[in-house]
Amino acid sequence: MSVTGGGPSGGAANLGGGPSLVVDNIGELTTHGPQGTLSDAALVVSGGRVAWIGPSSRVPAADRRIDAAGRAVIPGFVDSHAHLVFAGDRAAEFAARMAGQPYTGGGIRTTVAATRAADDELLRANLARLVAEARRQGTTTIEIKSGYGLTVEDEARSVRLAAEFTAETTYLGAHVVPEGHDPADYVRLVGGPMLEAVRPYARWIDVFCERGAFDPDQAREVLRAGIAAGLGARIHANQLTAGEGVRIAVELGAASADHCTHLSTSDVDALAGSDTVATLLPGAEFSTRSPYPDARALLDAGATVALATDCNPGSSYTSSMPFCLALAVREMRMTPAEALWAATTGSARALRRDDIGHLDVGARADLSILDAPSHLHLAYRPGVPLIHRVIQRGEPT
Ligand code: NIG
Ligand code: FE
Repeated sequence: MSVTGGGPSGGAANLGGGPSLVVDNIGELTTHGPQGTLSDAALVVSGGRVAWIGPSSRVPAADRRIDAAGRAVIPGFVDSHAHLVFAGDRAAEFAARMAGQPYTGGGIRTTVAATRAADDELLRANLARLVAEARRQGTTTIEIKSGYGLTVEDEARSVRLAAEFTAETTYLGAHVVPEGHDPADYVRLVGGPMLEAVRPYARWIDVFCERGAFDPDQAREVLRAGIAAGLGARIHANQLTAGEGVRIAVELGAASADHCTHLSTSDVDALAGSDTVATLLPGAEFSTRSPYPDARALLDAGATVALATDCNPGSSYTSSMPFCLALAVREMRMTPAEALWAATTGSARALRRDDIGHLDVGARADLSILDAPSHLHLAYRPGVPLIHRVIQRGEPT
């Protein structure tokens, strides 16, 4: 399949904003919008946006054409939780876990040491590699967190480097208390001079609210400081143990509570009654051999659920949204359609974005053509590279 010039009648559709592109002969088009799922469909992209959707037989002409040859088209994946600014790997820690060691989050300090020792070029190269790896697997928007610097300078450069790759940058200075620091002093640093230094590059603030990391009062202090500085809040909540993380997220109007592995009924109800998205990260449970979150309880209660990779060198070293989607279906009893929605529209909501994660007219033209006739194959054929072609902002990559 290649991009060719001209549509059926040769002329270009006058849709405004640069050369137009038509993708036709789409076997199954998932829009996640009012038009639902269409068969034998086509879409036209112009100016980086979706300009037209309809039956393939009625597609207007465009400057360029991609013949999907009956393949399925889905919205680009939105990976709303990834820790990509780091150096080193922790494969030995993974092997030890598979031999029975528990995951505690203590390995974060190993990555902090490697990241501090790395120069900008190395960190940038690692970021570029992982972002490209994610894109090949259908990810067209990715959130990137800091959190392996934990000094004013190293957090500022981490968020600055992340901003070279995405608009969805997150400051996670409150990942763990670095060695040799008094916790209360460190929390003040995170909410004071460190926040000041990252502020020009960060859109979000995050905190790891967990035993051994930051307690509920410290988490509130960090998030409130970020919110006061104009950042949106998100939180690592209830990952390893039950606790107040989800409650704090809802109380502070966080866009997302991430992990949600150990939830009480009142946590589930609080999420369902709020605008806070429950972001599930099954790659972490897979890679730490832990019980999966109860996605069904969240969905059945009416909470908005997102799926993301949590890509990081410790607890979940995968950049693959299709892999996480397959886990969500097999291990968390989500339907394939629910998992696809959570990995696109749900995760866009976790970033408070309505221009991505769906394919309505006017949406950003971020989409994947699958090497499969339907979205069901994403979970039905786990581990198989089904992303045939990615179109990002209207451009085939
Ligand atoms: O989301 N929980 C905190 N942070 C990461 C793990 C980081 C690491 O182990 O390096 C997570 O799982
Ligand atoms: Fe994480």
